[in-house]
Amino acid sequence: MSFGLKNRLSKIIKPQTGKTVMLAVDHGYFQGPTTGLRDIKSAITPLIPYTDCLFITRGILRTCVDPSIDASICLRVSGGPSILGELSNEDITTSMEEALRLNASGVGMSIFVGAQNEDRTIANLGKLVNEAQRYGMPVLAITAVGKEMARDARYLGLACRIAAEMGADFVKTYYCDEFYKVVEGCPVPIVMAGGKKIPERDALQMTFNAIKEGASGVDMGRNIFQSDNPVGMINAIRAIVHDGATVDEAYDLYESSKSQPIEVG
Ligand code: 5RP
Repeated sequence: MSFGLKNRLSKIIKPQTGKTVMLAVDHGYFQGPTTGLRDIKSAITPLIPYTDCLFITRGILRTCVDPSIDASICLRVSGGPSILGELSNEDITTSMEEALRLNASGVGMSIFVGAQNEDRTIANLGKLVNEAQRYGMPVLAITAVGKEMARDARYLGLACRIAAEMGADFVKTYYCDEFYKVVEGCPVPIVMAGGKKIPERDALQMTFNAIKEGASGVDMGRNIFQSDNPVGMINAIRAIVHDGATVDEAYDLYESSKSQPIEVG
C-alpha cells in the first residue's frame, strides 16, 4: 500500500481507534430528495462536526458543503439509474481527476451481486481499483442488495468477499445474523450501512453488535438524518464506535442531548 493510499485511508478510518463514523448522504443519487435530506444543506451542516468522513456525491459536495470542514470526503462515483429504473444498471459517473480535484480521501461505488448487471458492476469495480491505485486513492465497494436478495451472511459474505478480491480497500455492507462470518471472510475492513430507519435504540444495538463482531465502523445515513435528534444520534453512534460505550450509555447520550444540546468541541 503506497504512502498516499495509507495517508488518505487514515483520514477515513481513524488510526487512534482503527474505526470510523462515516455519514452517508448520497441517497439522492438515485432516490432524489429523500426524507430527511430534502433541504440537504440544513440537514447535514450540524452533523459534519461529528463525522469522520462524509459519503457524498460531487454535486452535493460542491453546492452544499463548506470547503473548510475537518471531515474527510469519500466520493460516490457510480450512478445512472433512478429508483424508477433497474438499479443495477450503474456505471462510473465521476472521474478520478474530479475526485482528486475535490480532495477526496476515497471513492465509492456499488456492486450488485445477484442482480441483472452484476457482471458489469463487478468489472467496473476492478477498473475503478486499477485507476485508483495509480493515484493512491482508496476504494470503497458497497454491496447493494437487489430487491429479491436475502440480507443474510451467505449472500453478504459472497458480495463482500468478491469486493475484496476485486481489490476494494474497504467494503460497506448491511448488518445480518452471524455478521461475524461476513467479517471473517473479508480480508479488508467492513463498515456497516444502517439501512431503513428503525427505532433509535435498535439502531444503537445493531451498531454495538456490528462493532463487537468485527466491523471497522459505520457508514450510516437514514438512522441518523431521519432521527428526531440527528446530532444526538450521531454522537451516540460515535460513543459506541470510538469509545466502546454500551447501548444503554449511548442511548442515554441520545436522550439527554434532546434537553441539553451538545456543544461543538
Ligand atoms: C445507498 C448507499 C448509502 O450510502 C447506504 O445505504 C448507507 O445509508 P443508510 O444507512 O441509510 O442505509 O450506499 O446506495
